[in-house]
Amino acid sequence: MEHERIWAVSIEARITNTRDENMADVVRIFDTTLRDGEQAPGYSMNLDEKLRMARQLELMGVDVIEAGFAIASPGDFASVEAIAKEIRNCTVASLSRALEKDIDASWNALKGAAHPRIHTFIATSDIHMEHKLRMKSEDVLDQAVRMVAYARNLCGEVEFSAEDASRSSPEFLYRIFEAVIKAGAKYINIPDTVGYTTPEEFAHLVSSVREHVPNIDQAVISVHCHNDLGLAVANTLAAIEAGAGQVECTVNGIGERAGNAAMEELVMILKTRKERYGKETNIDTTQIYKASRLLASLTGVQVQPNKAIVGANAFAHEAGIHQHGVLAHASTYEIMTPESIGLHESKMVLGKHSGRHAFTDRIKSLGYSVDSETLTEMFNQFKKLADKKKVVSDRDIEALMESRTASIPETFTLDRFVINSGNTISATALVRLKKDDEFHEDVATGDGPVDASFLAVDRIVGSTFTLEEYDIHAVTGGKDAQGDVSVRISRNGRKWKGRGVSTDIVEASILAYLSAVNRYLYEEQK
Ligand code: KIV
Ligand code: ZN
Repeated sequence: MEHERIWAVSIEARITNTRDENMADVVRIFDTTLRDGEQAPGYSMNLDEKLRMARQLELMGVDVIEAGFAIASPGDFASVEAIAKEIRNCTVASLSRALEKDIDASWNALKGAAHPRIHTFIATSDIHMEHKLRMKSEDVLDQAVRMVAYARNLCGEVEFSAEDASRSSPEFLYRIFEAVIKAGAKYINIPDTVGYTTPEEFAHLVSSVREHVPNIDQAVISVHCHNDLGLAVANTLAAIEAGAGQVECTVNGIGERAGNAAMEELVMILKTRKERYGKETNIDTTQIYKASRLLASLTGVQVQPNKAIVGANAFAHEAGIHQHGVLAHASTYEIMTPESIGLHESKMVLGKHSGRHAFTDRIKSLGYSVDSETLTEMFNQFKKLADKKKVVSDRDIEALMESRTASIPETFTLDRFVINSGNTISATALVRLKKDDEFHEDVATGDGPVDASFLAVDRIVGSTFTLEEYDIHAVTGGKDAQGDVSVRISRNGRKWKGRGVSTDIVEASILAYLSAVNRYLYEEQK
């Protein structure tokens, strides 16, 4: 009920573009997973993947989705445009340097949005102005004002960021913020671009901006913290206490270098320590776990096990003394419940005798909604898995669901493979793939069974790839656990990722490699 109230207030405020009185207690969540997060090496996503992530962000209730940097590439433009068209319940933003051509590109991509926002930025620190922009501060101020006014002419909502604000002269920040607010900026962002500041210092900067910018009541203060010194979340919290009304963050804390402030951490701190901060967000926290898993599966980058909130160990109590305490009373060692982030472990075991009905129920309770064709395909995979594993856990089902490739046609599928390997012989792999109802088979020797099977796939496909990354982990405990493999392959400077899951780790590896190869073939055909 409480959540519905906040959600309704937020939607209303977004639609009317006014600063509602009730918003004073609500910290707006500006999610930049698809922009700052996606631009970090290793996290790139294609259009379908970005759309899937954007849908999840909308479902979670983020206030703003920064969908990309429209001018950066045709791919970025297309993703911003597609997200702007589809997402109705969040503001959709596109980043632009303070240049007309960037702002035009952002606006052209955002036009179809229900609630568009142009986000424009220019660096304000002496270091950046002198060495990067080679501009005098007066010219920077003038350009910022002109470009905010230019953007405001196109779009009802404009955000201005003073890049490297935490290393900028506070006096210059006051002047530039006052001027851009006059020119129509509704959100003024104070980024700690290089993750240099500390909580006390950053809180002081935010308070000083509130104190010294005379028209600050006409704008919302936003902050955007990087994690180079591991302080992104602490700095963001300090800024909230000092009066920031919007925070920029990413799922799993991904982003440039050491990343951005992690959304799940900020949201759960505000929820768990409500008595301390007195602030809420519009996030449905039960969607957090799913968002984190989805991002990991789309990017192929797993979350570190001890990561706060969403790491595999975040709710695991290993020490006997802790287990005893939690069993006696959960609050002894648990400050929040796994259920509050949407992490459920069903008590009802699924196995080879479970029917389609039980499987469908479980898929739904895990938060997935799939069409009946996908459901049939997933049910068949579940049956195969249940033949190999006595107990199929929720984590196994999630791994199956997430290993589906996002709308990439499977040019080649794995039909069968045979491995001959040992510690005194070279490994040999025979792989048979299926393409358009025809079988293609080849044999290769290699440095171990995985290497040999990848080489056999290369021979069938007729192209060679470099294996840039290979990661394997067990989905659950137990000797019959599924292996979850992520790979990244490259060829001529371009990269593709793939993922495969199976109780046989060589099969999981071939499936992952094949899904990356299928991505390559799909892009080649396009
Ligand atoms: O880190 C940064 O300064 C940014 C801005 C463009 C907001 O990402
Ligand atoms: Zn950034």
